Amino acid sequence: MTGYIASHMVALLHEQGHKVSGVDNFSNSTIESLERLETLCETDLVFEEVDVCNEERLKFALTIATKVNGPIDAVMHFAGLKAVGESSKIPLHYYQTNIAGTLNLLGCMRDFGIKQFVFSSSATVYGVPETTPLHEGCRTQSTNPYGRSKLVIEELLEDIAAADPEMRITRLRYFNPVGAHPSGLIGELPNGIPNNLMPYVFKVATGELPQVNVFGNDYETKDGTGVRDYIHVCDLVSGHLSAVKHLAKNKGLFTFNLGTGKGYSVLEMIQRTEAITGIKIPYAISERRPGDVGEVYADASLAKHVLNWEAEYNLDDMIYHQWQWARKADQ
Ligand code: UD1
Repeated sequence: MTGYIASHMVALLHEQGHKVSGVDNFSNSTIESLERLETLCETDLVFEEVDVCNEERLKFALTIATKVNGPIDAVMHFAGLKAVGESSKIPLHYYQTNIAGTLNLLGCMRDFGIKQFVFSSSATVYGVPETTPLHEGCRTQSTNPYGRSKLVIEELLEDIAAADPEMRITRLRYFNPVGAHPSGLIGELPNGIPNNLMPYVFKVATGELPQVNVFGNDYETKDGTGVRDYIHVCDLVSGHLSAVKHLAKNKGLFTFNLGTGKGYSVLEMIQRTEAITGIKIPYAISERRPGDVGEVYADASLAKHVLNWEAEYNLDDMIYHQWQWARKADQ
């Protein structure tokens, strides 16, 4: 509930008048993340410190949530590990947290009679893209334990949906979430040196790191650097809200890309960040990162047709909001 995406989800649900309860084990957030979220929502939130793998504690949290907020309509599941490189070093930990944690959550949901489930999947399930833009029907594959954990969960959700005609499950495949809440009160707080591009770029902008290492400039892309589909975190969570509204009316299993459909290169991201912050971002071209691919961007038309959702923020908004947050987090 206090991680990067989930905290923005809670803020939106709260703003729209929904009753929200949540758990987190603070593995990638802090008690201050919860406090900032409560400041933004101007209320105390129904929250329990729980590891998603702990069945007893999860059931306790669901019991409290039911007592305080009434019967639970839907569960949105954001709890997972997401660092690709790390996943190859400690695969068992990834499988335990991501796969066993999800199974535990689904088992608790069954025991509490909760039938609606929104799962945070990733464009990583497309592996090496067979085509761009990527549509939901493209073949899936996994190239590392993190990706395998997402793919395995996607597949087991098919079995669970097939076995129970009352289940309503949506798998959301995120492209590259960036940005922060426009209030500047919440945003991403990566532990240590960031793996992902934009958190790294902002650490260079705030002077914490000397330069951005651009992983390869010899891809078959517009300027040779990697192209990705960056999506504002607030658009991403509004996609979840649309998905859960759709589930309230539709049984079965659904899958949607959440992206903008536009691709930007690493150099374009650096240049736009320089333009918006007014700060020179030094960079150096380095080797390709193992496992990276040249170009990944979404065909986002299915979510538009079925969910009536599309991304609204543009690249400059994403960078501006993340910059507001990075400056605050740096203080
Ligand atoms: C990565 C993961 C992906 C995961 C996603 C969200 C890999 C191979 N993929 O996606 O599975 O779902 O994060 O957590 O790790 N880049 C640089 N310098 C940097 C960092 C990145 O040049 O210091 C480049 C990359 O080569 C890439 C682009 O920036 O072209 C975006 O990288 P990143 O933010 O790590 O996202 P993905 O690799 O798309």
